[in-house]
Amino acid sequence: MKELSLTKTKQTQEDKNRQKELIDSGVVPEHIAIIMDGNGRWAQSKGNIRLFGHKVGVDSVRDITEACAQLGVKFLTLYAFSTENWGRPSAEVRGLMRLLVSSLRKEADNLHRNNIRLVTIGQMDRFPDDCIKELDEAISLTKDNTGLELCLALSYSGRWDITEAVKKIAKHVEEGRLAPNLINDQMIGDHLSTASIPDPDLIIRTSGEYRISNFLLWQLAYSELYITELYWPDFRRNELYEAIQSFQKRDRRFGKVRKKNKDEISN
Ligand code: IPE
Ligand code: IPE
Ligand code: MG
Repeated sequence: MKELSLTKTKQTQEDKNRQKELIDSGVVPEHIAIIMDGNGRWAQSKGNIRLFGHKVGVDSVRDITEACAQLGVKFLTLYAFSTENWGRPSAEVRGLMRLLVSSLRKEADNLHRNNIRLVTIGQMDRFPDDCIKELDEAISLTKDNTGLELCLALSYSGRWDITEAVKKIAKHVEEGRLAPNLINDQMIGDHLSTASIPDPDLIIRTSGEYRISNFLLWQLAYSELYITELYWPDFRRNELYEAIQSFQKRDRRFGKVRKKNKDEISN
């Protein structure tokens, strides 16, 4: 197993064994997407301000990213800030931007040392200049890395993504380069911000909310859902292992019938 460390602590033998067990017991999802929810409630339940929850949430990001890299997950997409989150009080939005800049400053070298490639999806031009600068630097530093791809969804919404794809495709039609009847789902997928990434195998949402909140609407068509009551700052690698274990027990049929049933029907 790869020796990777983003967290300052050395990986325990117990954790290495747990990861080995998971890898041996079934398929580890190639792409995991996470709706990291519940930072505010976590902080408030401890009598703290919401921003404190966002801060501790960064520790969960570090731990989950490291565990995913160690497990050989290829893509990890984290919903960090939605289009709708711009509508929060300006002090919270400003606090989140500051946290993004300081976290990137602290973690970029670490990501690079661990062979992790950072990318983003979303409407980046809505971000303040210092955020864009920090993100661009981290993206360009890590662009040739071949390990885990860490994709941050920032100012992202599924409807925005689909709308942008529709505009691009409409332009091809307008320019006479595409006949409308040639538009198919593959082509739409190829015009989304996630064009180079396979659809998520597993989508995790923390904080016990049973909704997608405008995340990867198109891409989640056949993703397995895992919802936990835990708030994001409490979601660490052991909970991730439980989610993967649950994924490994699923029967992904993609609208077809199970192999066993297929045999029964043809008999
Ligand atoms: C998720 O936690 C982080 C972001 C959406 C930026 P929240 O801030 O939504 O926390 P809750 O859900 O209000 O507790
Ligand atoms: C979803 O959480 C967005 C992110 C985790 C970035 P929200 O807190 O914004 O979603 P709702 O309001 O509970 O649907
Ligand atoms: Mg929330």
